[in-house]
Parts: sequence; C-alpha cells; structure tokens
Amino acid sequence: MGIKVGLIGAGSIAQGHLNALQQNKNVDEISIADTNEAAIKRAQQAFPKAKKAYADYREMLKDLSIKAVDICVPHWLHHRLAIDSLKAGKDVICEKPIAMTLKEADDMIGTAKKLGRRLFIEMNQRFMPYHKETKKLLDSGAIGKPFLVVYCVTGNCINEMNDPNYWKASWEKAGGGVMIDTGYHVIYTMLHFFGRPIAVTGTARKLLVKPANKADDNTAVIFEFENNVLGSAALSYTVTSEGWMETRNIYGTDGSIHIKDTSTDQLTLIKANQPKVIPTEQPVDVHPHSYSLMCAVNHFVDCIITGKECEVKPEEAKDALKVALAIYESSNKGKRILLKW
Ligand SMILES: NC(=O)c1ccc[n+]([C@@H]2O[C@H](COP(=O)([O-])OP(=O)(O)OC[C@H]3O[C@@H](n4cnc5c(N)ncnc54)[C@H](O)[C@@H]3O)[C@@H](O)[C@H]2O)c1
Repeated sequence: MGIKVGLIGAGSIAQGHLNALQQNKNVDEISIADTNEAAIKRAQQAFPKAKKAYADYREMLKDLSIKAVDICVPHWLHHRLAIDSLKAGKDVICEKPIAMTLKEADDMIGTAKKLGRRLFIEMNQRFMPYHKETKKLLDSGAIGKPFLVVYCVTGNCINEMNDPNYWKASWEKAGGGVMIDTGYHVIYTMLHFFGRPIAVTGTARKLLVKPANKADDNTAVIFEFENNVLGSAALSYTVTSEGWMETRNIYGTDGSIHIKDTSTDQLTLIKANQPKVIPTEQPVDVHPHSYSLMCAVNHFVDCIITGKECEVKPEEAKDALKVALAIYESSNKGKRILLKW
C-alpha cells in the first residue's frame, strides 16, 4: 500500500508535482488545497488521483490518512504552511526557496527535527542528469582544478512582473525578484559543486519592469569560493528576443565543461580544444526541468516510504537562502559581503 499526499497550491509548478505524484505507484491518492476554485478544478480534471479538494489547507491537514504535504505556494507562505503541516504530523515537501528569512528556515528545519518529521526542499536542479554528471566530472578531476564559473539564465517574465497584484518578484510575497526566484537554482547548484562561498558581490536592478512593489528583474553576481574558484551569474527576467535559456560553463586547468539546458547533448567536456559530448541519463522526449521535478518528487516519496537519507538536505536550502540574502545585502550596500559559516 502506498501513501496519500496533500498538495497545497495547484498553480503552475504544481502541475509538474501532480504529474509525478499521479505517475508514482507508491502514491495512492492526492488531496488538493487551493484558495482558487479554478485551479482545483483544472488539477482534478487532469489528475485522476486528485480525489479530494479543499479551499482551506487547514481542513486538509485534519485528514489523518495524509502522510505527506507538498507545498507549491508563493514564497511568503512556505514557512507558515510548512510549520502547520509538520505540526499536523505530516512530512513536508516544499518548493524553493526554503523560506524568505533565515529565522523561518531555522524554524522549519528545527520543527521537523523536534517532531521527528521529514522536510524536503524542492531543489530540483540537483536531480538534473547533466548536473549529476557534472558533479562526477568535477570530483574525478576531469578538468583539473576549476577556477572560473560562468552561469547565465535569461527568460521573459515581464507580464508577471508588471502585474503589481501578482506575487511573483514582489518584495513582500517573493522576497525579491529574478535573483531569489530563478537565481536560487544557480546558487544551490554552485554550492553543491564548489562549496560555500566566502564572499559575494551583487547588483540587483529593476531595469524594465514598472510596479513599485516589484524587485530585481536583472541581476549580476560574483561568487568567491574557497580554493580560488571565481563564479559569476547573469540573471534576467526581461529577455523577449529569445526563449528561456540557461547556460553554464566551468573552466579548469585541464579542461572545461559546457552545459546546455536541452534534452539532447547537454554536457560537453572540452580538453585540448577537442569537444566531447558526455552522455547523461536525460530522456530525449522530456525537458530537463520537467524531468528533474519528477525525479525530485519521486525521490522524496521514496525517502518517506523507505526512511532513507535524502540526496538534498534542507540545511543546503538554508545555505542557498543565506547566499541569496547576502547578494541583496551587497546590492543594497554597494559592497562585497563576506560570508561567515
Ligand atoms: N522548481 C522550479 O523550477 C520552480 C518553478 C516555478 C515556480 N517554483 C516555485 O513554486 C512555488 C509556486 O510558484 P508557481 O509559479 O506555481 O505560483 P502560482 O502563482 O502559479 O501558483 C500558486 C498557487 O498557490 C495558490 N495559493 C496561494 N495562496 C494559497 C493559500 N493560502 N492556500 C492554498 N493555496 C494558495 C494559488 O491560488 C495558486 O494556485 C514558488 O515557491 C516558486 O518559487 C519552482
């Protein structure tokens, strides 16, 4: 017999979670809680396992047969919903970023520990086959000693950002813009590869979007890691001339790694000017983002059922939040921020 999962927030990313839960043989039934009736209706039509629905998530938490809760709501609600779910005796899967403040993140991690419950943060890019292969290449010394890292993530979220009533990229409900939102993936993957940075310098700007309550739409960051690794990330939510793009290049003393965010030929190892495509387990018929979401959700369900250790720890999600907040601090103060760990 499998488990019953309650999902809170059946919006855009939830479709990927629901797809994974629907296909997972160890999930018997899904309950959905959303304040938006249309979102519930859409989810129930698309996912037959989603039998029960609630307008108020607190009513759903009273169902003792629900083992785990999957939280897919705006950032400002992560902490409250996670704590309520943990206190209701549920294991918790929560979308990124873990929370909006370090105090909230500590409370979530501490409460899960105190109550003997599991807390999983959806750092789905850790599950991308090209990232897993990259980690292996780096750890095996395939490019010698890495020294320079160049990430670029560009997309178009102008309409969402220009809507003052939509939570995305608002200071009060998202805790920031492009940097804390998509930049969070950049941060936790870089930390996984190169450890915790000793300093960050960031410039987070609102270049094109208008509403006063919205945060950065374009951000540039410099990361200083131990062992003389220098990283950089350029992040944009205002590129309209092309589709969503993520590129990552890592340069080492004996070679370089180029990563493309596509379902074929994502990973290239270059040595002595000779590029070699490195095979990964990425299926060709699904985008790496959808695939990694599915792998992450399946892994979390597996951890809940078997009790095994999770590949991604909530403490790593807190570390990523600490770096994100330091980047905003750097931008606000106009100076490099040293990080103490
Ligand atoms: N892992 C990824 O790649 C990825 C991608 C996109 C979004 N996200 C994350 O997923 C989360 C949700 O983002 P989204 O883009 O799906 O947002 P969204 O606005 O599309 O969906 C949010 C849903 O939550 C519901 N909601 C809001 N308040 C609620 C409440 N109190 N109770 C119940 N339901 C409530 C809304 O009605 C909506 O249906 C965010 O944390 C975001 O950063 C992650």
